[in-house]
Amino acid sequence: MTAAFPEEPLAESAPVSRRLAQEHCRPRPGGGETCAWYHGFWQYLRLMGLAKTSGGQATFLFETLRGLARAGESPKVLVSGSADYSMPAHALWAYRTEGARLQLAVVDLCETPLALCRWYAERQGAEMATHCRDVRDHEPSTPVDVVFTNSFLGNFDPDGRSRLFAGWRRQLRPGGKLLFTNRLRPGAPETALSFDDEQARRFAEAAGQEAQGRRATLDLDPDEVVRRARAYAERFRSFPVRSVDEIRRLLTDAGFVIDLLEVTTNLGRPGALAVSGPSAAERADYARVIATRP
Ligand SMILES: C[S@@+](CC[C@H](N)C(=O)[O-])C[C@H]1O[C@@H](n2cnc3c(N)ncnc32)[C@H](O)[C@@H]1O
Repeated sequence: MTAAFPEEPLAESAPVSRRLAQEHCRPRPGGGETCAWYHGFWQYLRLMGLAKTSGGQATFLFETLRGLARAGESPKVLVSGSADYSMPAHALWAYRTEGARLQLAVVDLCETPLALCRWYAERQGAEMATHCRDVRDHEPSTPVDVVFTNSFLGNFDPDGRSRLFAGWRRQLRPGGKLLFTNRLRPGAPETALSFDDEQARRFAEAAGQEAQGRRATLDLDPDEVVRRARAYAERFRSFPVRSVDEIRRLLTDAGFVIDLLEVTTNLGRPGALAVSGPSAAERADYARVIATRP
């Protein structure tokens, strides 16, 4: 059977995500504003090609999931943090392509992406369980066969990451697989990274240009898109992963056996269209990881 990419109806779902974000995004512990600037705009960024679907690693994630589906021993799949329905969609389509049984669950801190996942699942006639909590505290009723995610490590400082990997290990059955991809930033500091002023300016400008070109189809006018792109660039923070050695240490400290740990380069937006900054679609190295819980 040929590889079929998941249907991702972004033009239709971006406005849905914006509405859901107004309804569901809440201030994070410690107070402050809600995460609507992120969950309500992420799909627009993907639609305009300013952020990458699964960090540009969709094919790798999809094909690995297909292989697991084909082997027939991994029906229980847990998505660990999902900004929208993209990762669950890849799991659904990978298992459907192989005609394999799938029990899919998504865990996220925020109800907005979970509601969006349910919207997608209903449209696809698929079952999907959603759990609104810190994934490190998630205790599945029975251990799962696969945990997978992308660009997730940036949410955690070094201590938080150790807890994350211990949580993933606890959630997996013996023989279960951890699958993820994450951007690498050699030489970056340990502290959280944000867009610098020039990156933020260029990001908002590129968003405005994209929105102008899409006036006929986008439900936001270009000025509003620029305002939201600025808000996004001002707020986005990510703790960099600096090397594959950091990942190797996290995996081995948590007792995983490494099946694959490789580096690949994502191409960004070309030339005059280029953008940069954390989570932006820029040229960057990514780690691809498959590990087994012994
Ligand atoms: C998976 S990451 C990055 C998504 C990504 N850029 C992509 O390619 O789809 C973002 C998600 O992780 C969620 N998140 C952050 N910390 C979390 C935690 N401790 N537990 C569960 N979800 C978390 C955020 O709410 C957000 O929806």
